[in-house]
Amino acid sequence: MNLILLGPPGAGKGTQASRLVKERGMVQLSTGDMLRAAVSAGTPVGLAAKAVMESGGLVSDEIVNGILSERLDHPDARAGFILDGYPRTDVQADALDAMLSAKGLTLDHVIELVVDEDVLVDRVTGRFTCAKCGEGYHDRYKLPAVDGVCDACGSGDFKRRSDDNEGTVRQRMAEYRAKTAPIIPHYSARGIVARVDGMASMDDVAASIDAIVDV
Ligand code: AP5
Repeated sequence: MNLILLGPPGAGKGTQASRLVKERGMVQLSTGDMLRAAVSAGTPVGLAAKAVMESGGLVSDEIVNGILSERLDHPDARAGFILDGYPRTDVQADALDAMLSAKGLTLDHVIELVVDEDVLVDRVTGRFTCAKCGEGYHDRYKLPAVDGVCDACGSGDFKRRSDDNEGTVRQRMAEYRAKTAPIIPHYSARGIVARVDGMASMDDVAASIDAIVDV
């Protein structure tokens, strides 16, 4: 089972992808996470991506296609993957088709999380994660059960993304509208797109996604 999760910043792609990893043993392939790791490590890709990410723009198709293609070659991708944040442009969608075909992989579902843009700034600016295990939280919608202690690993160390400020989120939303939403017809023509109400509770979004993948 191979999926794409599509949706603007804060739609819940990462939240639902990590749940699918835990519950189904799938692999989350987040180009945002891969780029942030490259930035932290100071690699040439990270150096090229850092300023673009902080402005809310899109990193070049060439860079992103390269890191995704390499990641798809890891044996774990054969167990079923969730693409989170990729593809984001027409060029990436075409490159993905070519990669999957060359690697003998297929795509089963494209799940579009449909959200009201008004909530996105609030969702993204309130987000934080455990610095040790990556568990995701929100200042209002998902706090740790014990204040200051990660539910998943017990760490007391949390972090926020440098691009999770209002100005950058609005730019990321504009990029989504202009460059990513237009790729949806690329997949609807194949009958593999399903729309899910991303405004529902996290559990209800999860149930809707499960109903699609379990058919
Ligand atoms: P990326 O890391 O992919 O960020 P994004 O697409 O902006 O998405 P987010 O991670 O912000 O949101 P999400 O949908 O995962 O939401 P989440 O589940 O965390 O990309 C970052 C940057 O990297 C890009 O701007 C670009 O520069 C670059 N990049 C990455 N991929 C690229 C590519 N392919 N091409 C070019 N450049 C690329 O949820 C958000 C918050 O809301 C959380 O706190 C969560 O707890 C809460 N929440 C989630 N669901 C619900 C719900 N149903 N109800 C209430 N709260 C909820």
